[in-house]
Amino acid sequence: MAKMLHNLPVEAYTSREWFDREQKSIFSNTWRYAGFMEDVSEPGQYVSVQAGLNNIFIVMGRDRRLRAFHNICRHRGTQLIRAVGKTQKALTCPYHDWTYDLEGNLISVPEEHTEFQGIDKKCLGLKPASVDIWKSMLFVHPDANAGSIMDWFGEVDTEVGPHDPDALPEYKEARHTYVINANWKIVVENYIDVYHLSHLHSGTLQMYDHSKAVYRFVGPHYLFWEPPVSEYVVDQDKKLAAPRVIPKDKNGAWVPMLFPGIGIGASEDGWNIYIVEPLGPNRTRIINRSRVANASAWEFSKQSMRSSGFWSNFGLRGKYEDHDAYSKDDPMAGGDFTAEDVYACEQQQKSLYSPHYEVGPAAVGEQPVLDHQQVVLNWVEKSQ
Ligand code: FES
Ligand SMILES: [Fe+2]
Repeated sequence: MAKMLHNLPVEAYTSREWFDREQKSIFSNTWRYAGFMEDVSEPGQYVSVQAGLNNIFIVMGRDRRLRAFHNICRHRGTQLIRAVGKTQKALTCPYHDWTYDLEGNLISVPEEHTEFQGIDKKCLGLKPASVDIWKSMLFVHPDANAGSIMDWFGEVDTEVGPHDPDALPEYKEARHTYVINANWKIVVENYIDVYHLSHLHSGTLQMYDHSKAVYRFVGPHYLFWEPPVSEYVVDQDKKLAAPRVIPKDKNGAWVPMLFPGIGIGASEDGWNIYIVEPLGPNRTRIINRSRVANASAWEFSKQSMRSSGFWSNFGLRGKYEDHDAYSKDDPMAGGDFTAEDVYACEQQQKSLYSPHYEVGPAAVGEQPVLDHQQVVLNWVEKSQ
């Protein structure tokens, strides 16, 4: 019998077969984060992302509408564009220069009349995908008929926190992309493990009262809120770097993990995203971006916050840049909860390969971990 990690076999965290299965059944069939709305805000601007097995780009048309297309040239499939950028009027494939307009129509084929015996360009437009905006984030879905993103997030829309991210400027210095050497589910499970908060993070997240955390799943999405401890509330307004972004009666940390791997971490002075992107069975990319009440106020006060140690509690230190996340220093001594999490995830992943690995009993506060495993299992089985 396969060794289990609660509800999933250990291979679900280590094998290429499971990774491929999840890419197909989960990440190719759900909405994928693609950026912030301001990343594609003028005609010709585009961004591309991998959504499971699909590479998809969003481009703004001359009519200022956002459209999403599969990033596959209709000639022989070369990717039309890479990453983020801006084009004037058209998208030209690098291979043989087939050119499409911003609305996805094929508009020119070099040597059309000598190299081809009649081409119906009208039938060779780019294949459409879906695009939508939710909480200031761009999302794509490989299916052109995916409908509205509110069909997916509608049930939790009002429960992920009182923030209005559309109204908050991005704090660009807090942009981080880094790789964790662990399966994406280990990373998600760590994010939703309530039991670890007062242990792994006993020195970093102590301003919140974990014993009063309220959490539950709604469909595949996980919701979490916890209040600050009373000592933290006393002079909280003095400690805040910028005006609070939520009313006092909604105080606390709002930390949902939406499916699949779309984390939000929001509190009285900011709103962050934590996007979990699987790269391989034991490699996961994290994309962090933040919005704050007032970016220049953050800029101004971060020096004093750094020296007080307060700032590090928000995971905003500049050391994670496109390389393995935690430094060579002792990750448990840096006063940074993100480094603590990365350390725990990577150590756990390593142990999965040991023939002596065996999972112990689950705590009450680990129920979300088991529930998430069940969500993954259902999703993978459903599409087989
Ligand atoms: S593959 Fe794009 S023009 Fe040939
Ligand atoms: Fe954690």
